[in-house]
Amino acid sequence: MKKMGEKQERVVVRGLRDVAAAETKISYVNSNGTLYYLGYDIDDLVERVCYEEVAHLLLYNRLPNKKELDEFRFQLISEMKLPEQVIKRIKRAPKDCHPMEVLRTEVSHLSEYDTHTNDNSDAANKKRALELVAKVPTIVAALHRTRTNQQLVTPSQEYGFAENFLYLYRGKPANNQEKEAIDRFMTLHADHGFNASTFAARVTASTNSDMYSAITSAIGTLKGPLHGGACEKVMLMLDDINTEEEVEEYIQGMLDDQKKIMGFGHRVYKAEDPRTKHLRSIAENLCHHTDTLNLYKTCIKIENVVHDKKKIFPNVDFYAAVVLNTLGVSKEFFTPFFASSRISGWTAHVIEQYQDAVLLRPSSEYIGEFGRPFVPIEKR
Ligand code: COA
Repeated sequence: MKKMGEKQERVVVRGLRDVAAAETKISYVNSNGTLYYLGYDIDDLVERVCYEEVAHLLLYNRLPNKKELDEFRFQLISEMKLPEQVIKRIKRAPKDCHPMEVLRTEVSHLSEYDTHTNDNSDAANKKRALELVAKVPTIVAALHRTRTNQQLVTPSQEYGFAENFLYLYRGKPANNQEKEAIDRFMTLHADHGFNASTFAARVTASTNSDMYSAITSAIGTLKGPLHGGACEKVMLMLDDINTEEEVEEYIQGMLDDQKKIMGFGHRVYKAEDPRTKHLRSIAENLCHHTDTLNLYKTCIKIENVVHDKKKIFPNVDFYAAVVLNTLGVSKEFFTPFFASSRISGWTAHVIEQYQDAVLLRPSSEYIGEFGRPFVPIEKR
């Protein structure tokens, strides 16, 4: 029998690398570069479905038929409306705090207007999920409009959901190419296995806390530059590099200083991230049409130089930065756009976690001391 204070050896899996913390049916991420949503290869979905179909798939476990899609879209667009108090708080938020901070607070604030707070049934959570999928993009768009002293825009049932998001943000309707770009961007960002923010949401949900608390945890986690915050940092890097010719020296300088190249590397993928090829092609297309091909060419050069030097590939955030920049989104809103898409995956995972009904609570390996003699405060 172990004595008090005697160490129990445990295997520490640093960073929980390769640890399967739960079972999931929602998405499958494989190191060789494949991603499935509910059994569908992302490559089969991305050019054939709209974001609403993906959100429906994640929340109800199946793709909708035409009638269901129309109804779902109608509900989503109707639910984009925010409570007056939330709009007031968005308008009062200090202009210098990061949009992810305001988003985190206002999602939490939404819970105060939930009319059935104590109902944690599957039906109530599906309804809540739909509302969050609809309202998170509106919070993001409203914050941007407020910060740039522009009128808030009302969503239109004439437009698709992703298109509405861009419309609410920019105040002008998207052209066909932009519509396609934002739809695909949101589809590609909708879910991604047990990434850090999804895991954070599931940990919170595993205590039977409410969905708003779980999503607030997820938003706080996504904000970090090793996760969704990388996208904004990619743009800061691209702003620093003026021409293709500067790439080699810039990247070498970063590596010499032991700095990470933002938008590169991945915990799971050891081959190219399956979302990269789609985002690269959307970026190329948008850059062609907006006379920003130099930016695209600089990105290709960065990709090649980083691969030559470190044998790592761009992740979802690298070309996503170019896509959002070309769509006219300010860089501090890149991560909020990511959150506005991942909200469908987060809510699906929260519901799955409630169904699993198990507390996520790992142990730790204590490496501190035992038996320190206690010294009263007056003798310390
Ligand atoms: N820039 C430079 N080197 C990188 C790198 C990057 N972006 N990503 C990984 N590496 C290096 C690591 O330092 C490590 O080198 P070493 O073997 O010499 O120590 C090697 O590549 C393998 O790294 P790995 O263990 O696979 O990374 P990880 O799982 O610990 O970290 C990330 C994964 C995502 C946190 C990491 O790649 C990173 O910080 N990327 C930049 C931030 C980013 O884009 N985040 C968004 C992720 S979707």
